[in-house]
Amino acid sequence: MSTTRPILPEIDPADLLEQPIERASTIPAEWSWDPAYHALDREHIFARQWHYVGHVSQVPKPGSYLPATVAENPILIVRDLEGELRAFYNVCRHRAGPLATEPGCVNRVVQCKYHGWAYTLDGALRGVPHWDRVDLFDKKDFGLLPVALTVWEGMMFANLDEHPEPFDPVTAGIRERIAPIDLGALTFHSRLSYPIACNWKVYVDNYLEGYHVPIVHPELNKVLDYNEYVTETYPRYSLQYSPFRQDVDTAMYGPTASEAFYYFIFPNLMLNIIGGRLQTNLVLPVDANHCVVVFDYLYVNATAPEAQAQIAADIAYSEDVQREDIEVCEQVQVGLRSRAYRTGRFSVQREEGVHHFQAWLKGMYRGALAAAH
Ligand code: FES
Ligand SMILES: [Fe+2]
Repeated sequence: MSTTRPILPEIDPADLLEQPIERASTIPAEWSWDPAYHALDREHIFARQWHYVGHVSQVPKPGSYLPATVAENPILIVRDLEGELRAFYNVCRHRAGPLATEPGCVNRVVQCKYHGWAYTLDGALRGVPHWDRVDLFDKKDFGLLPVALTVWEGMMFANLDEHPEPFDPVTAGIRERIAPIDLGALTFHSRLSYPIACNWKVYVDNYLEGYHVPIVHPELNKVLDYNEYVTETYPRYSLQYSPFRQDVDTAMYGPTASEAFYYFIFPNLMLNIIGGRLQTNLVLPVDANHCVVVFDYLYVNATAPEAQAQIAADIAYSEDVQREDIEVCEQVQVGLRSRAYRTGRFSVQREEGVHHFQAWLKGMYRGALAAAH
């Protein structure tokens, strides 16, 4: 299989050093707008990490399929006739056509949308229309290329690496930390996508601090108890935790909601857990200056008619917060590209999560450089 080997950008070794937050500078601005870093991120981070692709209830029965994107590669998740989940590149072996562009369900085969080659749900090529007189061709050599897939708490993760690292360390400890909340008991409600004119790291950085909440999100600020807001860092993720204030109305989160867990799992997945609801934010890089953020909403009572008004209120409230974040992230992207800025500094009290993410990123870049030499 072909892989793209990016030409590594020239990175000043001083920029790759990790410093304690009290003395550290933020990552250089060009890491968030130079296309060379976009290629580095794609090949050395996104193509090698476990990557959220959707919820099992989006592929509910044998024959169900769901397209996804990992490191700019089209992927198809399929539930085969035995009920097993599988993932393949969503790329036909004939002339690279797509097998599916929308979620759907088939009886026995998925058929390419270009010339109709048909593949069984285990990826084998079965039907090839108008193929007389083709020489030296064996269907066995033209099956769909598989992609590693695993499921954690109902969430599906794919990894393009042919020898992927074990998944367990990626989320180790989360289940215990949030108990008795049970993410595995939730079902999928809906998905919303937001195209944003900023680099994926800008969106992640913004997510990782509550420093901006009083200014960018005045309404949200009334709900969170800022004095109790804490950041916890772990090898593969960080957690921002905040209890809700007792004296404000949080009815849109349901009667059991008293606290918020905001997890960020490297490299690009956020889990916003409040009471009986999970909102996932998946940050998909598009190019050096654009990303798409995909929100999946899951609820303990996603299909109950009596829950729909509260769910609608939750989604509307999140949309308002997201609009505020999008606006500031897009302005930050402009600022990063300006002549005025290369690096900044951190609030020790409020930006521990950003520092933690940027230190992890530096480690990934150091690894990429070491592998290249
Ligand atoms: S590209 Fe799929 S059948 Fe031609
Ligand atoms: Fe925000």
